[in-house]
Amino acid sequence: MSAEPAPAPTPTRAAAPAAASSGPAVRVRGLTKSYGDLAVLRGVDLDVARGSVLALLGSNGAGKTTLVKILSTLLRADSGTASVNGFDVATQARDVRASLSLTGQFAAVDGLLTGRENLELVARLRHLPRPGAIADELLARFSLTEAGGRRAATFSGGMQRRLDLAMSLVGHPAVVVLDEPTTGLDPEARLGVWAAVAELAAGGTSVLLTTQHLEEAERLADRIAILHGGRILVDGTLAELTALLPPARVEYVEKRPSLEDVFLALTASGRGVPAEPSTATSAASTTSTTTRTTEREGDL
Ligand SMILES: Nc1ncnc2c1ncn2[C@@H]1O[C@H](COP(=O)(O)OP(=O)(O)O)[C@@H](O)[C@H]1O
Ligand SMILES: [Mg+2]
Repeated sequence: MSAEPAPAPTPTRAAAPAAASSGPAVRVRGLTKSYGDLAVLRGVDLDVARGSVLALLGSNGAGKTTLVKILSTLLRADSGTASVNGFDVATQARDVRASLSLTGQFAAVDGLLTGRENLELVARLRHLPRPGAIADELLARFSLTEAGGRRAATFSGGMQRRLDLAMSLVGHPAVVVLDEPTTGLDPEARLGVWAAVAELAAGGTSVLLTTQHLEEAERLADRIAILHGGRILVDGTLAELTALLPPARVEYVEKRPSLEDVFLALTASGRGVPAEPSTATSAASTTSTTTRTTEREGDL
């Protein structure tokens, strides 16, 4: 990373280069990439608007990581163009790398260092002033202040992923790319990472998030793009995407808690197995049947 010290309104303000243009945070046009005979990207077009969260949704093997690697200059595209923060990934790789931070599927924290030392290390590598202050601010932001003095190896998977996210924010990169940030995490840890990503978005960072979890895209993204067969099949807001299918019949059913609801309720700190429900409550909750159906107007 080439980051020069910059005048800093906040402790973590760093040296991301000015944008080359006022266009989108990420712009991809006609991008192709093959591995031998395997054509993985076959003409991908994608924009991430500044200050927005775009979820790139795709099943395993769809090419999400390939695209992410091209954007972070770790891999060259065969054809097409891509820019990050206005800089071309092929010809301005240095500026692209200074504008973008990539958090992969596997946390890149050093287990032998404490949480705080991990953050300080990144700040030092980026030649930022006051690494200790930067570390403290980020620990607080990601609810890791108490754990900050412990070796990262003792952190839970969710805490490690949150620390990894915090490390990716050192220096205020203009664009944060998160490649499947919650894959492999338990539901509670996933919620913690979601909160951290929402926090990022609220701070105005442009985020490109890849995921296989539909709910993750629904919860976090301003726009959702679906990568399939080497191309972006659709790209729009959740409302635009759901409007693509005609919901002719809306069924009202009694909602049963999902397994995730049950798991989270039982494992939340300080809570055990809920007390036996009263007879009236349990009678009311024994059925889960369709009680009413209706036609929705205006087929699409
Ligand atoms: N270095 C590589 N060499 C050959 N094939 C690869 C390489 N990297 C990825 N692939 C293949 O390209 C396809 C897309 O992979 P990837 O971009 O990792 O998908 P995703 O991240 O969406 O799961 C997969 O079929 C994968 O096996
Ligand atoms: Mg991947």
